[in-house]
Amino acid sequence: MIAKKFQSLKRIFFMSLSAAAFLMITACAAKEEVQHNPELLLGFSQLGTESAWRSGNSADIEKKAEENGVSLMLENANRKQENQIAAIRRFIAYQVDVIAFSPIVEEGWDNVLSEAKEAGIPVILVDRDINTKKEGLISCHIGADFYSEGVMAGEYLIRKADELGKDSLRIVEISGTEDSTPMRQRQAGFMDTIADDERMNVIESVNGDFLKSRGAECMRYLMEKYGTDIDVVFSHNDEMTLGALPEIEKAGAVPGEDIIIISIDGGQEAIDVLKAGKINCVVECTPMLGQELMDTAKKLKAGEEVEAVIHPVEKYFSDEMDLSGLPPRGY
Ligand code: AHR
Repeated sequence: MIAKKFQSLKRIFFMSLSAAAFLMITACAAKEEVQHNPELLLGFSQLGTESAWRSGNSADIEKKAEENGVSLMLENANRKQENQIAAIRRFIAYQVDVIAFSPIVEEGWDNVLSEAKEAGIPVILVDRDINTKKEGLISCHIGADFYSEGVMAGEYLIRKADELGKDSLRIVEISGTEDSTPMRQRQAGFMDTIADDERMNVIESVNGDFLKSRGAECMRYLMEKYGTDIDVVFSHNDEMTLGALPEIEKAGAVPGEDIIIISIDGGQEAIDVLKAGKINCVVECTPMLGQELMDTAKKLKAGEEVEAVIHPVEKYFSDEMDLSGLPPRGY
């Protein structure tokens, strides 16, 4: 009787043990499946961390990947094109479903993108564009209309000149990374817009590489060269503007009053400085491109058609407006 009871207890014990082992094995298998067969694997090469804009852009892409269940391989190229090319090659070797990258400059991508095309991996440009004569290397470009940003900056300056009754303005430009899309197109949009206005004189254009430290260096040089004989600073991003402002003050001028300051990006810090009166106009360039990227990557994986170019809607903020109710910018 006791032996019989022992036998059935033993059976129950082993049955529970096998059930537990089975559950563990299936759980592990399911985990394996999630790790090795993600629904969508996206390789993204970010160009660097040079600005609040860039950090905001990376953070948004990471957040949206998580929300959309996309497995993201994000690599930071530290502002070197060769690092971006190496990252794209790693994504190809890893056989990701879709490759995305923010090209630091426009030229020099044909070889690596031809390799991606041969491997059958679609490529999305995020933020900046490339210059190529080859067909079919890129499936979609998601990024700002940088030319329109330059136009908005120029149009603001024309209105400001009217308001102040100026018959001549001496303008300096602090431009972004040489040969990059925002540098080329913001400059073109601004210059085309003011070209026919005889009051506008661009006295010098210097390159600040989108960096705060370089913005400061450029402005120091300009203040030493022209003294306070500068009426307008057109800076291609907030970071360089924020570097330039203290140099104007050190030289004895009041930014926003003695010198009209125009910036691009619209990050929180620049908006706060605009509200404080030291910047006159900030043209928006939104880094929040993550959701469009996820939607487009999913469509490409599913073999669906996508739009060739997607521009976010952008506006500007200026001393012509009441900005007291402006929600936090998020970057
Ligand atoms: O390409 C977008 C530009 O790059 C942003 O204006 C700038 O802040 C960033 O570094």
